[in-house]
Amino acid sequence: MSLLHTIQLAPADPILGLNESFARDVRQDKVNLGVGVYLDEDGTLPLLECVRIAEGRLTAKKTPHGYLGIDGLPAYIKATRELVFGADAAVLGRVASVQSLGGTGALKVGADLIEQLTPRARFLISTPSWENHRALFTRAGFEVGHYRYYSPELRGIDFPGMIKDLEEAEEGTVVVLHACCHNPTGYDLQPDEWTRVIEVVKSRKLVAFLDMAYQGFGFGIEEDKAVIDRFVEAGLEFLVATSFSKSFSLYGERIGALHVVTQDAGAAAKVLSQLKICIRTNYSNPAKHGAALVAEVLTDPELRQMWEDELGAMRTRIKALRAQLVEELRAEGVTDMDFIADQLGMFSYSGLTREQMVALRTEHGIYGTDAGRMCVAALNSRNIGHVARAIAAVR
Ligand code: LMR
Repeated sequence: MSLLHTIQLAPADPILGLNESFARDVRQDKVNLGVGVYLDEDGTLPLLECVRIAEGRLTAKKTPHGYLGIDGLPAYIKATRELVFGADAAVLGRVASVQSLGGTGALKVGADLIEQLTPRARFLISTPSWENHRALFTRAGFEVGHYRYYSPELRGIDFPGMIKDLEEAEEGTVVVLHACCHNPTGYDLQPDEWTRVIEVVKSRKLVAFLDMAYQGFGFGIEEDKAVIDRFVEAGLEFLVATSFSKSFSLYGERIGALHVVTQDAGAAAKVLSQLKICIRTNYSNPAKHGAALVAEVLTDPELRQMWEDELGAMRTRIKALRAQLVEELRAEGVTDMDFIADQLGMFSYSGLTREQMVALRTEHGIYGTDAGRMCVAALNSRNIGHVARAIAAVR
């Protein structure tokens, strides 16, 4: 009997699978608004100037390609911890941090750690959440439920519903929260709402797992990490997954980090030792290039400033694209989608139905997820009119 005799064809990934269909599409005016990737005005993936310079320096050094430690490149880990928690933050003494394969890798290593500590924990993700959250945490062995988040009727967050669901969660439930630029909706909690969420996490003894893949795309690098500071101030143990895919335009380098905030240095050391086992038994140790690039940029004051400016320019341009899309839609007679201008981050949760998204794809060559998410960061002045006309046509 063949090992593979029962194997079934798996469905395509709801986000990355779109790239494959897009690549096969022969239409000249096709537009890929599926995956969360920022493209410049020419429709190309930018190589940030700070990264280009850092790469030149690293190449000139002609460093041999040795193994990194299991937890990653020390200079990178230090720099990324400081970016997330603040350079002189006292909490750093009790945070265990490891380099990860992008934000997804951080989520998986974090899930593996939780599985070891509390295998029967239940995970709660927002309705809706990033398409891969459910799959990833399910695959890691957990039962995954939802807390209410986005309400189509309210065209915003059902905050009372969210709080009720968190209040009803059993002690020890892991709650996955988007630190900024909620994916896919683009709607974030207000500071007073975070206060309430933190209160409930604390009083119900829940475990917060913060996903922060878009630091710098909401209001700014500092502003977007404010919620992390709030969790620290509350004295909670929690996890943070971060990524430099978007903020450094380093998608293919798979560079991110996992941080576990513990109660004291002793606990952090124990957590780090366990994280290293999770990593070692999965892929041994991480890749070096992306980490070296990020470390070079973050530790050199000039490159660091350049990065902040470049990231700021991406953020500002996405906001301008949102405003322009609203205008183009209005010109096509679509007057009820102004909310696009208020959403944060790379995505617009358009409110279009699955059927409308399929029609956008098949009839107009415009690719967004079936759930109605479109990556506004891939718009430009040449494709935006076509997108607006197509949206008007399928509604
Ligand atoms: C997205 O949501 O499109 C990105 O985070 C890319 C991915 O891996 O899904």
